[in-house]
Amino acid sequence: MTGARSGRFAGERAPAFVALNSSLALDWRLWPEDVEGSVAHARTLRGAGVLSGAELRAVEDSLAAVAREIEAGAFVPSDADEDVHMAVERRLTEIAGEAGAKLHTGRSRNDQVVTDVRLHLRRVLERQDAALDALQHVLLMRASEHVETVMPAYTHLQRAQVTSLAQHLLAYFWMVERDRGRMAAARDACLELPLGAGAAVGLNHDLDRAAIAEDLGFERLCENSLDAVASRDFVVDYLAAAAQLGGHFSRLGAELVLWATSEFGFVLLPDAFSGGSSIMPQKKNPDAAELMRAAAPRLTADLGGLLGVLHGLPLAYNTDLREDKRYLFDAVDCLDQILPVALGLLEGASFDEARMAAACDSFLAATDVADYLVGKGVPFREAHHVTGTLVRRCLETGTDLADAGLEDLLALSPAFAEDYFELHEPAAQLARKRSHGGSAPVRVREQLERAGAALAARPCC
Ligand code: ARG
Repeated sequence: MTGARSGRFAGERAPAFVALNSSLALDWRLWPEDVEGSVAHARTLRGAGVLSGAELRAVEDSLAAVAREIEAGAFVPSDADEDVHMAVERRLTEIAGEAGAKLHTGRSRNDQVVTDVRLHLRRVLERQDAALDALQHVLLMRASEHVETVMPAYTHLQRAQVTSLAQHLLAYFWMVERDRGRMAAARDACLELPLGAGAAVGLNHDLDRAAIAEDLGFERLCENSLDAVASRDFVVDYLAAAAQLGGHFSRLGAELVLWATSEFGFVLLPDAFSGGSSIMPQKKNPDAAELMRAAAPRLTADLGGLLGVLHGLPLAYNTDLREDKRYLFDAVDCLDQILPVALGLLEGASFDEARMAAACDSFLAATDVADYLVGKGVPFREAHHVTGTLVRRCLETGTDLADAGLEDLLALSPAFAEDYFELHEPAAQLARKRSHGGSAPVRVREQLERAGAALAARPCC
């Protein structure tokens, strides 16, 4: 008998409790890691003399058979199986008999589950990091096409100064670069092996934890058995990284939604990533970008949910910890859906350079005008005031900053001269933004190189 209640209990569990207590809907996806971890554990049981060679072979063969049954959809867990671990062990014991019944020696579901989750999360991180790598490549490629494509930069969503589309896209490149750093830290936290901690205090058996670690690709052992079974900060690390990534994607999604409006018209989103309206035949809706935006609150809630579960929880294992998978897998699924959509949107977006250039109105040069006066020896605060006055007059007369007459300019400040009229071309404005990390094409080309080098230096985890 493989149940967790065994001889201690009289009578059956109440159906309402069975329903609440079943973890299967939450943890079934862990079965491959549960099988893998069980094989590694069985090998150390052999090393400790708990299993004979024949029993180890029986356990290995039977676990492989369980895996095949699950893969083929032939194995359906029963109500009696509280979680994936008990389901796998029950079926193993049905197939292997007594050898299977020995497998749980020196192991608790408390150290087992947290081992399985680490193994699983390592795989998730490999997959999602590869997707982020691809996304960065697309951002780099799209940016390199638009080093000279001028557009307004916004502050307070008001037109501010000239920048380039490359500069704008590269901002997201660096956000994702840092996100990948945080994902890599989460992966590192998954390289510590909890198995061997037992239920809470360690084992009565002399199992070779280092051998299990090596077998399962862990780099270190958890140093404290209570910490090993009670902590979920490696999951928090992942969820925190995911929440930040979600925040970044929400900003990108929001910008794509805005840019795709008729009012902005900066981008045409690919039809393959757009929806229609059930009543208005002309509509093309940026659903994919909207859902990218909406992933952020979901990911933030997943992080908040797990932090809430962990808050004030006495050591060591508590069933509350079962809920870690609810939040973890929700975030994993959310990112698995969002990542390819972000990639497709960026690959397929068709940017309207003319609309972006047309949005660069003459007032974007106002800071350049003030700095021009600074170059003539005018203190910046005074230059700011003079230029502000000039802007107000232009707005009152409905003229452009570039069209002011020299006489009017001189009336505002004697520092103005003929070269004022060379300031205004958007390309010239762009070229002046030449501080390190600035929007000038010469700087953006350097930035592209540094971005490419950062990408090449970051191995997918
Ligand atoms: N299914 C549980 C989880 O996901 C593991 C079982 C822990 N042990 C226990 N006695 N309830 O965390």
